[in-house]
Amino acid sequence: MKQTQRLDKILAHVGIGTRSELKRLAKGGAIIVNGVKVKDSGMQVNPDTDLIQVNGETVVYREFVYLMMNKPQGVVSATEDNRDRTVVDLLDAVYKPFDVFPVGRLDKDTEGFLLLTNDGKLTHNLLSPRKHVPKTYYAKVEWEVSEADREAFSQGVTLDDGYETLPGVLKILKTGSEPEGIVSEIELTIMEGKFHQVKRMFQAVGKTVVYLKRLSMGPLALDPNLELGQVRELSADELTVLQNAHELQN
Ligand code: URA
Repeated sequence: MKQTQRLDKILAHVGIGTRSELKRLAKGGAIIVNGVKVKDSGMQVNPDTDLIQVNGETVVYREFVYLMMNKPQGVVSATEDNRDRTVVDLLDAVYKPFDVFPVGRLDKDTEGFLLLTNDGKLTHNLLSPRKHVPKTYYAKVEWEVSEADREAFSQGVTLDDGYETLPGVLKILKTGSEPEGIVSEIELTIMEGKFHQVKRMFQAVGKTVVYLKRLSMGPLALDPNLELGQVRELSADELTVLQNAHELQN
């Protein structure tokens, strides 16, 4: 990040006002930098070293935000959509100025762990096919998921478009059976993120995913205290763990 930036840009970024509102605030003497009333809201300041106060409150500047969402069904993993509500629509207004976007996509009917941020570099790393960041899903599958499926996934399966997946780790939690109409419950860890990948991997072995939830991405797991649709910021520790994840280092 540049050392100095326009004051109004910094204040707009953290949601204090639009450029014209900030001009008015400065005119009214409400903005103080290092103890001096600001006349020009476009002045250059260093947000790391200059003390900025607005209406007597110190402004805590940050460039990036990192949010964990428990995505509900029925919303799309996008920033805008003509038809559907998006995950960004679920965010509190305080995050709007940061222009966050979802890190990768979950299908409209998939629930669970979704990271949202405005940190493009981290996003690029997490989504890079070269990095093989593991993602673990819980799914209900019709009907009987078997040892043979576990074996097939451990070798990689061929999707409908001919793509050969990397090996995935399948854990069978409960085995269903068709005559009784009991679905299987599984966890699947995959190292890539092709379109509809989990659903298509089961399709490749003749089975149907009827419920899908992401449990984790890289070193971070979904906070069990987050209700569907709820969002919270990553803790400092979680962010450090994520940034230092060994998958992202090479
Ligand atoms: N695999 C899928 O099929 N859907 C998702 O939303 C995520 C992974």
